[in-house]
Amino acid sequence: MRSLVLTLTAAAVAVGLSGCGKSSTQQPDQSAQATSGAPQAAEPTEADKKAILASLPAPYNTADLANGQGKFALCSSCHTITAGGPNMTGPNLHGIIGEKAGMQPASFHFSDPMRAAGFTWDPQHLDQWLADPKAMVPGTKMTFPGFKDPKDRTDVIAYLMVESGYKPQ
Ligand code: HEC
Repeated sequence: MRSLVLTLTAAAVAVGLSGCGKSSTQQPDQSAQATSGAPQAAEPTEADKKAILASLPAPYNTADLANGQGKFALCSSCHTITAGGPNMTGPNLHGIIGEKAGMQPASFHFSDPMRAAGFTWDPQHLDQWLADPKAMVPGTKMTFPGFKDPKDRTDVIAYLMVESGYKPQ
């Protein structure tokens, strides 16, 4: 675990040194980090993604990322997931785990019910949301109907965590 953290930190530093000038558009990372001030890690490599997947809590650690990626195609008409990606019909989802619902990015105009929801996104809340968004937050303006199959939810949540800068605690 420790070597994983070091590897990811080294990757973040390497990315930072290679000079991506877009970091000023990113929200500051709220988790306390030794690398504060450095830009967030941009795109993880395939090896990083495998390591992140393996570090997730069950059942996400054995999720089918290929299926998750395929199912995320249904989200990507409204959402980007990359760091600093634009809002579309829906908000950018980078770093969604650990964010308060309906708050970030601040540049996105969330619905009143979403802003008042008051919970913090974790895998359990995402599972409930992706089963039936309108049942979880009545009045939300997300029109996606939800996934019936729990496996699709597990796979897409694992994909979200791996792709959106989730860091194991
Ligand atoms: C038709 C467009 C559309 C599709 C498709 C869609 N969303 Fe959304 N999504 C939205 C909108 C709009 C909101 C903002 C809801 C609000 O403010 O009530 C949202 C909000 C969210 C949020 C809450 C963000 C926050 O910061 O609180 C999450 C998480 C989310 N969507 C995930 C997904 C996932 C995962 C998928 C695919 C399975 C998906 N969405 C499909 C439009 C969409």
